[in-house]
Amino acid sequence: MTVRELRRKYLAFFETKGHARASASPLIPYDVTGALDETLLFNGSGMNQFKPYFRGIATPPTKRLMTAQKCLRTGDIEDVGDDSHLTMFEMLGNFSIGDYFKREAIDFSWEFMTSTEWLSLDPRRLSFTVFETDDEAYEAWSRHLVGVGVEPATRVFRLGEETNYWPAGAFSKGPPGPCGPNSEMFYWVDGEPPVGPYTTEDWLRDDEAKNWLEIWNDVFISSEWQGALRDPKRPDKGYEKTGMPDLPFKSIDTGMGLERTATVIGGFRSVYDTDAFQPIFRLLEQVSGSLAYGSSPEITRAMRIVADHLRAATFCISDGILPSNNGRGYVLRRLIRRAILKGARVLGFDEPFLFKLIPAVSDNMGEDYPELREKQDVSTETLKNEEVLFRRTLKQGTALLTEWLGSLQGRELDGDRAFMLYDTYGFPLEVTRELCTEAGVSVDEEGYRAAMEEAQERSRGANQTEGPYTAVAGDGLPSDLPATEFLGYHHTAATGKVVAAAEAKEGWVVVLDRTPFYAESGGQVGDTGILKSDSTTLRVKDTTKKLGVFSHLVEKTADVLPHQIVGMELELGVDAVRRGAITRHHTATHLLHAALRHHLGAHVTQAGSFVSDEVLRFDFTHGKALTDGEINAVEEMVNQMVWEAYPVTTYEDVPIDDARKMGAMALFGEKYADHVRVVQIGDMPPTEPSPSRELCGGIHVKNTGQIGLFKIVHEGSVASGVRRITAVAGEAAYQWVRATVGQLEEAAGLLKANPQDLVPAIQRTLETLKEERKKREKLAAQGAAQSEEQQVGQFNLVVSRMTDAEAEDMKNAANRLAEGAMKVSLVVSTNGSKLLFAVKASSDAVAAGAHAGNLIREVAKATGGGGGGRPEFATAGGNDPAKVEEAIGRAKEILAG
Ligand code: SER
Repeated sequence: MTVRELRRKYLAFFETKGHARASASPLIPYDVTGALDETLLFNGSGMNQFKPYFRGIATPPTKRLMTAQKCLRTGDIEDVGDDSHLTMFEMLGNFSIGDYFKREAIDFSWEFMTSTEWLSLDPRRLSFTVFETDDEAYEAWSRHLVGVGVEPATRVFRLGEETNYWPAGAFSKGPPGPCGPNSEMFYWVDGEPPVGPYTTEDWLRDDEAKNWLEIWNDVFISSEWQGALRDPKRPDKGYEKTGMPDLPFKSIDTGMGLERTATVIGGFRSVYDTDAFQPIFRLLEQVSGSLAYGSSPEITRAMRIVADHLRAATFCISDGILPSNNGRGYVLRRLIRRAILKGARVLGFDEPFLFKLIPAVSDNMGEDYPELREKQDVSTETLKNEEVLFRRTLKQGTALLTEWLGSLQGRELDGDRAFMLYDTYGFPLEVTRELCTEAGVSVDEEGYRAAMEEAQERSRGANQTEGPYTAVAGDGLPSDLPATEFLGYHHTAATGKVVAAAEAKEGWVVVLDRTPFYAESGGQVGDTGILKSDSTTLRVKDTTKKLGVFSHLVEKTADVLPHQIVGMELELGVDAVRRGAITRHHTATHLLHAALRHHLGAHVTQAGSFVSDEVLRFDFTHGKALTDGEINAVEEMVNQMVWEAYPVTTYEDVPIDDARKMGAMALFGEKYADHVRVVQIGDMPPTEPSPSRELCGGIHVKNTGQIGLFKIVHEGSVASGVRRITAVAGEAAYQWVRATVGQLEEAAGLLKANPQDLVPAIQRTLETLKEERKKREKLAAQGAAQSEEQQVGQFNLVVSRMTDAEAEDMKNAANRLAEGAMKVSLVVSTNGSKLLFAVKASSDAVAAGAHAGNLIREVAKATGGGGGGRPEFATAGGNDPAKVEEAIGRAKEILAG
């Protein structure tokens, strides 16, 4: 049975049990309300997105749901490459939201696993663990086992909270959130299963020996673990429990590992033997030309690591994560680098290879995960760039380590340097160790770990992998507020009733039953404006939203207290001028996106966006800087679409599949509901191509003509493989042009030219400067020609007289004249009523006692001036040109000693 068939079978079985398929969450952990779960880096299980359902704060479309969920866990990354561990894997889950509970969940799992109509797994090969006090689960499994003649005591085992409470250890340690006891299901993968008496100790021993492979986990969600971080600045210190009240109803969360179950069905020992991985190995062999999977344990393990990390990286990138130095991007970068290292050091790839393997992932899984195909260009570009970059760094790191090894000679590489290799050059400890061992040097691994801990403390965020979850921070508002009705697509003014108001750090937050204020999202900033009653006016500084509840952040006022406005009907006025400027920038962003894809290619995907009244910033995937020609072409194309005055049409509530069929571009890394809003530029029917179609909840102009003018003001890099364009539209573009023309006028004014003649005027000025420079050089040469040399004591004094020379010319002349044995040059220039002196002494002259600084001080003094400097070179100023000869005479006296 292929992985695909197994996935289908699971979903078909649970459909017969009344479950509706819900769309999976991306690897970026968005929950069912569309909110990002800030407490997680990645989606690591099927239940994450359903937390609002389990808590009863959001209502599911039906109480029985099922998903095929892509998951990423990096906690066991060191084990990847053995038989069972993966970073990215698929979990098939059936969920009951306050519907059936423990008994039925276990019955379903049993039936699906053992029924001949479904998986037909041999019950003698199955074992089950339950939470130590969970008699009901124990009984439920026992009943089934007795039914097939297996002694329950030899197959059901009671274990503690580390394995049998979800999340692991949550019973006593937290983290806060929905939790409950769980029951895990295992399959015997090593020859004939044990017979006769079999104790918990036997089971634990065989589990340790990896004879039991965990394939499924049923969680009986019943409580909300409550507690707070012991030290909010140190999440790693854990939580203090404050309570564990029952949730409003009991729920079921199950997760069956797709790859592992396919392994046992196929009679394999390893997940890598399944068709989820075999195509990657075949392509890897083909790309290399010499590798063979299974040819040696080392090669096999390296190929497995490459395949696993490649799959994980491709899925991450397709979900909108890009390599970076923190958070999700950092984890992705580590996965890519680990794969490259295995490729370079064990599999013998000297050139970037990882990107060439992407088709094995997208061809094999693209049918079920269309984002893999849609984003294939981005994945390819990203992996290629990352590998080129990393190979360069790796070379530098190796060179550095080789240099260190040269001076270490049989001693130890300290922890700080080992950590620097890891941190700056991406060397995992095992690589450093390997290179050091080859050179007979050991590594201070304890010191390495200490340095690592210190760095982790500095940037804790980057190392948080996938802790299950933490409590959502309160904002002083009741948690059960109704969703706000949004009027802002059509109105900038309305009336609304205050449903809650509270004091916040930077003002008050006010929640209304309905509002025309747009809340910051999708890159578009929140609206500002006023909320007005007969007695008071509140200034709205910003608007945000959470779970559909809009918060208006208002300036504090002394007129009233927050609770006094609750229940009041207010007049609501958005700053419409600012809103107009924001919408111009927003629509311009869509045009820019379309123009970039047109000119640079389909790999261009939005990687970030900021839209305000003053500016737009658009980040997109592209490997190199844009040329001036490309920038001009993109800018011109956007303006052409502005001049075309295309109407902007929005389609509300479009089923996501229809939106895809219309060719609407989904934003990178966004989670969409089943029904979406499509913003189309041009009034083409939905079946025809249009200049731009995007899934977007933002506010736009009615016609692109309203944008008026579009100007790119900057193009640069934000991260490897990601460029940023900063641009202005509408009035901001006009102001930019005006300011720029103003600068041109000012510059022209300085050159006393018309702005139109600025370029020839600058050319003339440069020409004049060039001539001036030539004149000065001539002057200097003249000075040298007019020099006279004479022996004074042991020194050769060269005196040169100049007129109107500049300091630079004098220095040059002094240097030139002091070339030779025992030379001291004295350059003097008469500049109107002033004198300038420069003295230079050759090094042998200095060694023999000449001192330019002391000499010049006396010389300048003779003309009523002053100065000094180093023994080799000094400058000074004088006042009385009539005393020049006297001054030169003084120099001779001094040198004569
Ligand atoms: N949440 C549980 C797990 O991830 C079951 O889905 O193991």
